[in-house]
Amino acid sequence: MSAHDLQDIARDIAARAGELVRDRRREGVSVAATKSSPEDIVTAADRESEQLIRDLIVRARPHDGILGEEGGGTAGSSGITWVVDPIDGTVNYLYGLPDYAVSIGVVEGDPDPATWSPLAAAVYAPARDLMYTASQGGGAFRGTKQIHVNTAVNPRVALVGTGFGYDPERRVRQAAIVTELIAEVRDIRRMGSAAIDLCRVGDGCLDGFFGVGLNPWDMAAGALVASEAGARVGGLRGAPATASMTLLAEPRLFAFLEAKLEGLGADRILD
Ligand code: IPD
Ligand code: CA
Ligand code: CA
Repeated sequence: MSAHDLQDIARDIAARAGELVRDRRREGVSVAATKSSPEDIVTAADRESEQLIRDLIVRARPHDGILGEEGGGTAGSSGITWVVDPIDGTVNYLYGLPDYAVSIGVVEGDPDPATWSPLAAAVYAPARDLMYTASQGGGAFRGTKQIHVNTAVNPRVALVGTGFGYDPERRVRQAAIVTELIAEVRDIRRMGSAAIDLCRVGDGCLDGFFGVGLNPWDMAAGALVASEAGARVGGLRGAPATASMTLLAEPRLFAFLEAKLEGLGADRILD
C-alpha cells in the first residue's frame, strides 16, 4: 500500500473521530481523570475517540502497530505503526476553545521520533473543520489545497508558536526561554494544540514553532505536514526532533532559531 493510500485511511479515520469528539463537546465535557499533574487531564471523549480510532485502524490495517496516548502501544508485524493523539488540545476542548484536533501519524520503524520514518499524516480540527494531510514525498494539504511554509522570513518579523508541558517546574524553565526569545522575533503564540501548531507552520499561519516535552503522538502527524510543506524539522545541534526539542521552520529561520535556542540551552530543559 502506498503512503498516499495510508494518508487517505488516516484522513477518513481522523474525520470520523473528529465528528465524535465534536458531538461529545456539544453534549458537555467533564474531566474523567488527571494524569501526570492536576493540569494534565483526560476526558471520556479522549478515551472514546481513541477506541474508535483503534477499531478503525485494526479493521483497515490488521497487521500494523498502534501507539496511542490513552491506550499505549500495541505491537504489529508489518513494521508500520499508527501514532495517535485522540484529542490534542484537551484543555482547549474542556474550555470550549476551538483549537483541538485528532492527530494520526503513520510511521515506519520503531515508534520513536528519533529514528522513525514518517509515511502519512492527518490532523483534523473539527471545531474549525480544518483537515491537514500529508504523505511522504506527496506534499501537504489543507483540505484539497496544497500548502507551503512561509519562505525568506526575516527573524525579526517571525511569528513563532510554542507550548508548555504540564509539569510546573518545567513550565518555569520554558517560560524563561520565551522571555529571552520574545524580544528577537515579531511575537510568540501559545494556542494549545501542538499538532495544529505544527500544521500551521506548514500552512504559513506561523513562521516557526519550537516545543519541549512533546510526545510522539503530539508530533507524528504535524511534523510530516510541516516538512512536506517545506519546513525543516529537527532538534538542536543537528539532532532529530524529539521530546528534548522539536523545532520547525523554513531552513533560514530554522538556523536562526536553532542558534538562539542553543545559546539559551533550551534543549536541556528536560535534563
Ligand atoms: C498537549 C498540547 C499542548 C502542548 C502539550 C501537549 P494534550 O497535548 O499539544 O499544546 O503544549 O505539550 O501535551 O495533552 O492536549 O493531548
Ligand atoms: Ca497531545
Ligand atoms: Ca491528547
